[in-house]
This record gives sequence, C-alpha cells and structure tokens, in this order.
Amino acid sequence: MKRTVLTLAVLGALGLAGAGAVVGFGLYNVSAQVGHWPGVSWVLHSTFRNSVKLRAPAPSEVPDLTDPDLIALGAGHYASACATCHAAPDSFRTATMAAMVPSPPRIDRAVEDWEPNHLFWIVQNGIKMSGMPPWPAEDRDDEVWAVVAYLAAVQEQQAPPLTLDPDSDRAYCATCHGPVDGQVPRLDIHPPEYLEEQLTAYHSRQRPSGIMAQAVTMVPAEDFAALAAHFAAAEDDAPPAQDPDLIAAGEALASAGTRDIPACVACHAPAEGPPKGPTLDGQHAEFTEVQLTLWRDEVLAYDDLMAAAARDLTDADIAALAAYFASR
Ligand code: HEC
Ligand code: HEC
Ligand code: HEC
Repeated sequence: MKRTVLTLAVLGALGLAGAGAVVGFGLYNVSAQVGHWPGVSWVLHSTFRNSVKLRAPAPSEVPDLTDPDLIALGAGHYASACATCHAAPDSFRTATMAAMVPSPPRIDRAVEDWEPNHLFWIVQNGIKMSGMPPWPAEDRDDEVWAVVAYLAAVQEQQAPPLTLDPDSDRAYCATCHGPVDGQVPRLDIHPPEYLEEQLTAYHSRQRPSGIMAQAVTMVPAEDFAALAAHFAAAEDDAPPAQDPDLIAAGEALASAGTRDIPACVACHAPAEGPPKGPTLDGQHAEFTEVQLTLWRDEVLAYDDLMAAAARDLTDADIAALAAYFASR
C-alpha cells in the first residue's frame, strides 16, 4: 500500500516536472506553420460546432431579417469589421488571412452550415483561441441581428455589394448615415455639439454600441468635430408617414405623461427655455424605438433623468412615442 502511494507520488512529480519542462523550456512548438497534431483539429472543430448548437437562442427568437435597411446596416458594419478576415462573398481572402490557423473561411462558406440563431451566437460571442472576435459591446442583440440579417442575405445569394471608402472619413460614415434608414439615426436634426459629444461617448464606450464603437475607431479622433459639423448640415430624408392611431397615443403620453412616466416634451421639446435633452422630432421611428428599449432595459444608463423617464414604458408606449416623434 505504502509502496503504491510512493510510486504514484513519484510518477505525479515526474509528470509535473515534464509539463513544467514543456512550459519552462518552450518544448511545445507554437508555430502555426506546423499545425495541430493529428486528430486535434477534429476535436476542436467538433467541440466548436456542438458548443454553438447547445448555446444558441431558440429559432423562435429570430426576428424578421428581411428588412432591407437592417441588411444594409449589417453590410455596412461587415465591410469595415469582418471583411478584413472573411472577405466579400465574391472576392478573395488575402493570402495572410488564408494562412491563419484556423483560417477564417470566406464568408459564403462560413455561413453555409449554420442557421440564423447559430450565426447570432457566433457573432455575439466569437470563438475562443481562434481569432474570431466577440461583439465589442454587451447586450446589443439588436446590432448583432443586423449583421445576421446580412449573413442570411449572403446565404440567399442576395447580399448587397459592400462599399468601404477608406480614403474619405465622410464617405465612410455616409455608407450608413443618409442612405440607410431604420435603426441608423438621422443626424441633420441635431446641432454639431451634440453629435460630437456622442462620438466621444462611443469612443470612451460610455455609450455602448458595437457598430459605432467600430466606426469611431476607423477615423482619427481629431476629425470628430469636423465630421459632426458636416453631418449636422448634410440634409437627410424625413421618415415616412406614421400610423395616425399610434401618433395620437404617442402625443398624449409625450405631452401629458402619467403618474409614473414624465412628459417627454418637458425635456425634449419644451414650449420655452433651452431643452434638457436632444431633439427627437423627425427621427426615424425604428431608431427611437431601439434607444427607448435600451434605456428602459438599463443597457443605456449614462443619464439618470433619461433612465428614470424610460423605466416604466411598455413596448406599446415605446412604439407610440417613436411614431409620434417621427411624425413631428
Ligand atoms: C481577425 C479575423 C476575424 C474577424 C475580424 C472576424 N472573424 Fe469570423 N472567424 C475568424 C476565424 C479564424 C474563424 C474560424 C474559427 C474556427 O474555424 O474555429 C471565424 C469563424 C466565423 C464564423 C463561423 C464559420 C465556421 O467555421 O463555421 C462566422 C459565421 C464568422 N466568423 C463571422 C464573422 C463576422 C460576421 C465577423 C464580423 C462581425 C467576423 N467573423 C469577424 C476570424 C475573424
Ligand atoms: C455601419 C453603419 C454606420 C457607420 C459606418 C457609421 N454609423 Fe453612426 N450610427 C449608426 C448606428 C446604427 C447608430 C445608432 C447607434 C446606437 O445604437 O447608439 C449610429 C449613431 C451615430 C451617432 C449618434 C446619433 C444620435 O442621435 O444619438 C452619431 C453622431 C454618428 N452615428 C455619427 C457617425 C460618424 C461621424 C460616422 C463615421 C465616422 C458614422 N456614424 C459611421 C450606423 C453607422
Ligand atoms: C428630465 C428630462 C428628460 C425627460 C423627462 C425625458 N428625457 Fe429623453 N433624454 C434626456 C436627456 C438629457 C437625453 C440625452 C442623454 C445624453 O445623450 O447624454 C435623452 C435622450 C433620449 C433619447 C436618445 C436620443 C438619441 O438621439 O440618442 C431618446 C430616444 C429619448 N430621450 C426619448 C425620451 C422619451 C420618449 C421621453 C418620455 C417618455 C423622454 N425621453 C423623457 C432627458 C429627458
């Protein structure tokens, strides 16, 4: 008995010393050129596939992914954040990306074997130890779905072409602001100071958005003021006509409030005096709806007054308020 214990202890110590030597003397070859030992790639890939399938949201949670504005927003983000590794559906990956281990598949291949709920999980979480990054903001499911809408269009071979103009900051920002409606806000309703503050808030991550966090790191911070001035003056289309019943319900709530919800116009469109909050008049309803939901659900929390104002809103209140302000 005593001898067995002793033998095990000696073997254990030798094992530890061996592992220590591998780590300490650098005996394990980390060269990506050498690749994995036989079987290891299969184990890693099967683990990856089964892990995604176990954790992805249910197919019933997949929203409507066919809205052209949602697809265009996803395409705009894909062009600057993903195409570096996965390329456009109709072009080549760079030789350097193709040499990665594991290498990022060209996007039409990458989406081949997955359902939208799986793609959502992959884009939100990334894949550990592979180079596939997670979404750079927490709790922004709405943004991840925009990218999945683009990926679903790639699956259907109906993806819009990608445009990325690295030579001009303005042209880059204008791939989304202007041509894309829906969740992409109009900027021309705001003064430049407000727009510049928001760019800084995205940059410091105070205001969480994976799409705008990426966008503000594509341009030098010294350009924020000039970009804000440009987009405050660049005219954008007014939203389409809204449902009259929603407008009426939204107007009643926004101007009078309830016991739990303050009148929005007190801060956003006061009859006299300077407004405490940004204008919402003429803003795209989908954008206002997303933002109000984020304030209500405490994903956005950087302004106490606005957080308190949104706390008790229902989904129906939010839809009505968004329609009302879009119609002003
Ligand atoms: C730095 C490079 C890099 C970037 C940027 C990147 N990926 Fe990936 N991605 C990878 C790699 C590497 C894999 C392969 C992982 C594996 O096979 O284990 C991968 C895997 C994937 C897969 C699963 C494909 C499969 O193997 O079944 C999808 C889908 C995907 N990426 C989408 C995206 C999207 C969308 C973006 C942008 C939001 C993105 N990726 C950004 C490197 C990248
Ligand atoms: C891929 C599409 C896309 C690109 C490119 C893009 N934006 Fe945005 N922008 C958005 C979306 C979506 C939002 C809303 C983000 C959120 O939920 O906070 C937004 C929000 C903003 C806001 C805040 C507006 C408000 O009413 O609160 C400003 C300012 C802005 N963008 C300016 C820019 C500038 C300047 C650039 C170029 C450096 C740029 N954007 C590039 C999609 C984009
Ligand atoms: C006590 C003042 C106050 C009240 C009341 C208020 N808000 Fe706000 N709201 C703000 C402030 C301040 C901000 C800007 C926060 C920031 O960017 O720093 C804001 C931001 C917003 C935004 C984001 C706009 C954008 O472009 O990003 C929306 C949407 C909004 N409010 C809607 C509403 C609605 C709808 C109501 C009524 C239910 C309401 N607010 C009530 C002060 C208020």
